[in-house]
Amino acid sequence: MTRIYCLNGPNLNLLGTREPEIYGTTTLVDIARGMEARLADTPFELVFRQTNSEGALVDLVQEAGAEGLALILNAGAYTHTSIALHDALRAISVPSIEVHLSNPAAREGFRQTNFVSSAVNGSIAGFGANGYDLALTEIIRRLTA
Ligand code: DQA
Repeated sequence: MTRIYCLNGPNLNLLGTREPEIYGTTTLVDIARGMEARLADTPFELVFRQTNSEGALVDLVQEAGAEGLALILNAGAYTHTSIALHDALRAISVPSIEVHLSNPAAREGFRQTNFVSSAVNGSIAGFGANGYDLALTEIIRRLTA
């Protein structure tokens, strides 16, 4: 088993054109390519997925727990609403990192509720698309330590 999962929730398929002043102009495909390039010289392979559906995201978290070595997750708006996602994250034991392009803590009040952060190993927020690379650096460090 060599898979590192990177899962992305609702509306992240629109990265690049969606509110670029908040989320930047890097697309999700750009992010996936960057992570793949980063893993090229490692024994790990990337499973990169995006879904707009809460249930599908729960299924993918379960899959990451069963078939992956680690999980990087940007749950999008489900971060702030989904107890099902929280429970799914608590049910897996692989290292997990939450990523947000923006810094939800500095945004609207409804983004101050977070059901993900208490169920993962750590969070990276506010560094745009670089956050995925930062998360991958930490995951590789953990897996090779
Ligand atoms: C986001 C932050 C969330 O609050 C928002 O709903 C998103 C994107 C981010 O990456 O900054 O969809 O997860």
